[in-house]
Amino acid sequence: MLDVVHITKSYRSGRGHLKALDQVSFTAAPGQAVAVAGRSGSGKTTLLHCIAGLEVPDEGRIVCHGEDIFQLSEKERQQWLRTGVGIVFQSGNLLSYLTVSDNIAFPLQLGGWSRGDIAQRVDELLQRIALPHAGRALPHELSGGELQRVAVARAIAHRPRIVLADEPTASLDTVTAAALVELLMELSRQENTILLMSTHDPAVMAAANRTVSLADGCIDTSPQGDQR
Ligand SMILES: Nc1ncnc2c1ncn2[C@@H]1O[C@H](COP(=O)(O)OP(=O)(O)O)[C@@H](O)[C@H]1O
Ligand SMILES: [Mg+2]
Repeated sequence: MLDVVHITKSYRSGRGHLKALDQVSFTAAPGQAVAVAGRSGSGKTTLLHCIAGLEVPDEGRIVCHGEDIFQLSEKERQQWLRTGVGIVFQSGNLLSYLTVSDNIAFPLQLGGWSRGDIAQRVDELLQRIALPHAGRALPHELSGGELQRVAVARAIAHRPRIVLADEPTASLDTVTAAALVELLMELSRQENTILLMSTHDPAVMAAANRTVSLADGCIDTSPQGDQR
């Protein structure tokens, strides 16, 4: 279970004090896919970064399987980032000088997996993202949709409890986007992962089990909320 409890996060900038998240609460269960919807600037990325432990909220708790991630020591939090979470960014963010296989293997090496286990897991994931022969390719040899599939494999490779996808389809055409969401959801379900996808794409919201809508950093419970 993921429990997000009253998360508040402010930024101070040249424009003054800005509340990016204001008392945001929701829960998500393993195997579930939740769309985090909202216009640009509504706080989606900030929320995902707080859940990843990349940013520390001013108030609130994030509890994953009974563990409050902001009560962890710095070392434990680093460990949480390496093992508990997988992230898919808007466009790939693969390491350009590593092969596809080595990109997928990266989180496994950080997690201390053995060479044999890594080879087996990478092979299995290449099959599951329907790129069985792309292991030796470099990222620039792949299409945008293929790159995002590799990014999904990398995010899920180390069997994290939570996969966070920040507008994973934003740089894809409609057909490729739908296929990518289907793949993300299928892999997360098979691995019993909690999947959170930020988006303003109605197709992604429709595919998800549930939508949490944000408006100006708050949960939007208005009837139009899940159309945003
Ligand atoms: N590092 C930062 N410093 C100052 N303001 C920020 C920072 N990150 C985000 N913001 C502001 O917080 C609000 C929410 O941003 P963000 O979470 O990126 O929204 P979204 O991902 O929904 O577009 C925006 O007004 C944005 O300008
Ligand atoms: Mg964003």
